[in-house]
Amino acid sequence: MKTTRRHDQPMSSSDLEPKAAQQAPDPRAPSDRDFSCSSRLPGFYELPRSERLRTVQSFGGLSEAEVASLGNLGTLNGELVEVFIENGVGSFSLPLGVATNFYVNGRDVLVPMAVEETSVLAAASHGAKLARCGGGFTAVSTAPIMTGQIQLLLADPSVDFDGILSSHKERLINYANRGQDRLVERGGGACDLDWRYVPEIRSLILHLYVNTCEAMGANIVNTMCERVSTLMPELLPVSIGLRILTNLNDRRLTDVTCYVPASALDSRGFEGKEVVERIVMAYQFAAHDIYRATTNNKGIMNGIDPVLIATGNDWRAVEAGAHAYACRSGRYMPLAVWEATASGDLVGRLSVPMAVGVVGGVTQLHPAAQAAMKLLGSPDARTLAGIVTAVGLAQNLSALRALASEGIQRGHMGLHKSNLDLLNRQGASRQ
Ligand code: MEV
Repeated sequence: MKTTRRHDQPMSSSDLEPKAAQQAPDPRAPSDRDFSCSSRLPGFYELPRSERLRTVQSFGGLSEAEVASLGNLGTLNGELVEVFIENGVGSFSLPLGVATNFYVNGRDVLVPMAVEETSVLAAASHGAKLARCGGGFTAVSTAPIMTGQIQLLLADPSVDFDGILSSHKERLINYANRGQDRLVERGGGACDLDWRYVPEIRSLILHLYVNTCEAMGANIVNTMCERVSTLMPELLPVSIGLRILTNLNDRRLTDVTCYVPASALDSRGFEGKEVVERIVMAYQFAAHDIYRATTNNKGIMNGIDPVLIATGNDWRAVEAGAHAYACRSGRYMPLAVWEATASGDLVGRLSVPMAVGVVGGVTQLHPAAQAAMKLLGSPDARTLAGIVTAVGLAQNLSALRALASEGIQRGHMGLHKSNLDLLNRQGASRQ
């Protein structure tokens, strides 16, 4: 039986001695974890999942129950885990809920959201209810144009790269589209190319614009960039640098607006018109203060990310794009704008790069993501982008309304309390 000091036991005086004065730890000293294990595990990826779990168990000193938690497959199966990632051992569960009250472009939607944070779904549903009083959300998306970057290290910057690239532009675009017949048949494919020279890194940066139709499109764009780059050394004195999409998809934008009559914002101790003024002031605070803007935008992503997760989309890509887009003026700004109308009502607008797909990747393979997409009415990529962005705007509205009136903690702590109660009960049962 291994003996270890529990974290809740008092420290002894030796615990307080400076590290250097303590004896070097005996690698074989009794511990829950075997510190002599190496994380260097050649061939680990080739092991069956059950053996990976056993390896992880002995490395981490895990109990059978802990191994069962890591190895739990949830709605996945072993094959899907292996298809999605390398070194897979199991799947990780997040609570999945449904936000209510959403009315987007004249259609009612129940929005699936996977998130661990208390009060996110309540806030999204509340924001949607407020927007619903003014007719719901109106969403407009650009064509799904993704941007790929090709870095060319220019040996001789005096070369007429503008003239050469202009005269070969069409050929390069056509070359990018070779092997992409199905995408081109659907009206997609590479559609434009431009470039700029960055003297500090002696690099010519090409931007290849690609309509990826219903796909998020990262793989398509990366493939095209690598393909086009192979033609470059015959056109220009260059060596090839990076070839990869950018997540700052400023040609794949979704714009969502909503209107909230002031009367819908009447609340305990505050008149609706006053709440409108205070929400606009809260927006202005974020517009003039990067610390507040960051938290404001975190609140928007509280709405966006859970829908992306539930539908199997790449939320890291959208996060990265959103924050870079928030900085496009050179100053980090709130992503949504809130203004009062002449009659004292509230209008909000959220514009954000929204690279989401409904074909390819996890979306069509993950059983829960598939069900979530069906619940949303099997939207196309633009419709999904509109719904996701509407949730971001609803989340921001709800947070600003609470912050600008009674404060966030009253509603939040009510919900958070059940979390704490559970923690306390678990703590008590471990004593
Ligand atoms: C908490 O997760 C999100 C908020 O902090 C957002 C905001 O302050 O706008 C409430």
